[in-house]
Formats: sequence, C-alpha cells, structure tokens
Amino acid sequence: MDTVTAMSPAETQERIDEFGAWFQNLELNGVQTAPQHFLGDYPAVKFAGFAHALPDDLTGKSVLDIGCNAGFYSLEMKRRGASRVLGVDFDERYLAQARFAAEVHGVDIEFRQLSVYDVGTLGEKFDLVIFMGVLYHLRHPLLALDLIREHVAKDLMLFQSMQRGSEDAMQVEADYDFWQTEMFARPDFPVMYFIEHKYAGDPTNWWIPNRACTEAMLRSSGFDIIAHPENEVFVCKVRAADNESDLTRATRQAKESLRAS
Ligand SMILES: C[S@@+](CC[C@H](N)C(=O)[O-])C[C@H]1O[C@@H](n2cnc3c(N)ncnc32)[C@H](O)[C@@H]1O
Repeated sequence: MDTVTAMSPAETQERIDEFGAWFQNLELNGVQTAPQHFLGDYPAVKFAGFAHALPDDLTGKSVLDIGCNAGFYSLEMKRRGASRVLGVDFDERYLAQARFAAEVHGVDIEFRQLSVYDVGTLGEKFDLVIFMGVLYHLRHPLLALDLIREHVAKDLMLFQSMQRGSEDAMQVEADYDFWQTEMFARPDFPVMYFIEHKYAGDPTNWWIPNRACTEAMLRSSGFDIIAHPENEVFVCKVRAADNESDLTRATRQAKESLRAS
C-alpha cells in the first residue's frame, strides 16, 4: 500500500470517513476533513485572527496541546519549528484522527490519551501550553487552570474559551463591603453561566464565562495576560514564582495554619 503522504484523494477520503465525524477541518492530501463545519473553515479561520500573537519561531521549544482534537494547533506549532509537541485529549477517536493527520503531514508529533485533570502525571513542563476550546466543556474549569499552572506551564499559555455576556471587563476591587452589592448587577463584573442541561445541543457545555470572568480566572490561576488578539483568545505568561498563584497561596496558608494548630 502507498504511504499515507502518497495516498490519492479518493483513498484519503476513505480513510477520513473511517474515523467518523471530524470537528476540526484539516486539509489532508487535498481533502477537507470537516467541510461542513458550522463555524466555516474551523479552526483555520479562528487561527487567522490571532496567529500573529504567537512566536513565529518555536525552534527548540516544547509544546503541550491540551484538548488537541485532530491536531490542528499541534501541526501549526510543529510548522513553527517546535522540537517537541505533545497533543493530549481524552477522546481516543479524535486522537486517531490526529495521528493520521500528522502521518499525512509527515511530522513527528506525539498524541496521548489524557484528561486535563491528569496533566500532573506528565511530570514535565512545556514552553507553550495550548488550552483552546476546552474550559467550557469542564465541570471544574478553575481546577483545570490551577493544575495546568501548577504542573505543566513553564512560560506561555495560549487560551480560548467560548464567552457569553458582556465583552467589557470592569476593574475589580481587592475587596467589597458585605452590604455593597450593586457591582453584581453590572454586566462587566466577572460572571460564569452554568449550563445545567445543554447549550447548542451539547450536554458537555458546562460553564460559559463572560470576558471579565475569563480574565479574572486566568489571573487567579497565576497567569498574566500579555495579549488579547481577539475576543475569546488570550496569550498568557506564567506569573513569576515570587507572585504565587491563588491555589499555591491557599495551599501554603492551609499548611501553615495546620502547623500552627
Ligand atoms: C471544542 S473542541 C476544541 C478542540 C481544539 N482545541 C480547538 O480549539 O479547535 C474540545 C476538545 O476538548 C476535548 N476535551 C474535553 N474535555 C476534556 C478533558 N477533560 N481532557 C482533555 N480533553 C478534553 C474534546 O475531546 C475535544 O477534542
């Protein structure tokens, strides 16, 4: 049999179909994997809006793509010269698509089945963590951000979430009086909408933040936002160690108070 890079479009189409429905539209040997995506040529159209905000040259860098799906961002980062790219997703069907896509592109990318909640088992930190389009699929979004910050993020994180509500973000005060409540009625106060059943027909949509809430959660998990190239996308930098995350501080304080008691 031909190698996958030399497959005809007809053979490629057959293989693509064997993997079931694709979420990401990739072009493999001239064949599109999800030409009917409801967001258009996704995620290529999305990427076009923020590609400039990432380093052009990733030579020598390591990348972890969490919720990698069919590997669109993993492939893009490999194209920018990353020496090591690891894509993880908890869905084995998407990982099979990603492995096939990497094979067609003739690039060496590792894809592994892993939930974001288990990133601590990797025992490795990455120069760039990609966490795109996953947060709102989680019942425990802040835990995921804390775990990423704690265990795998060394320098940069590319982040995206679906957002709803106000696109403005108010300046949040360090504290509020118990009787002060008017800010809760402001649309630009950090808020996350809980989806008990489904949103857009999808029961895996759990929490949808407004922009202020996205920014507040990223800050609270120990990330500084260094670029906001489009509404849903944030480029973050791991905050310096002397400025510990809220999780680290809470853990340290709990331990200190246990020791003191
Ligand atoms: C909306 S898709 C986004 C895919 C890709 N990151 C993008 O932006 O195009 C969400 C992906 O996250 C994966 N996912 C959802 N929950 C996850 C979890 N707990 N751990 C790892 N991956 C998860 C899904 O399998 C799916 O591939």
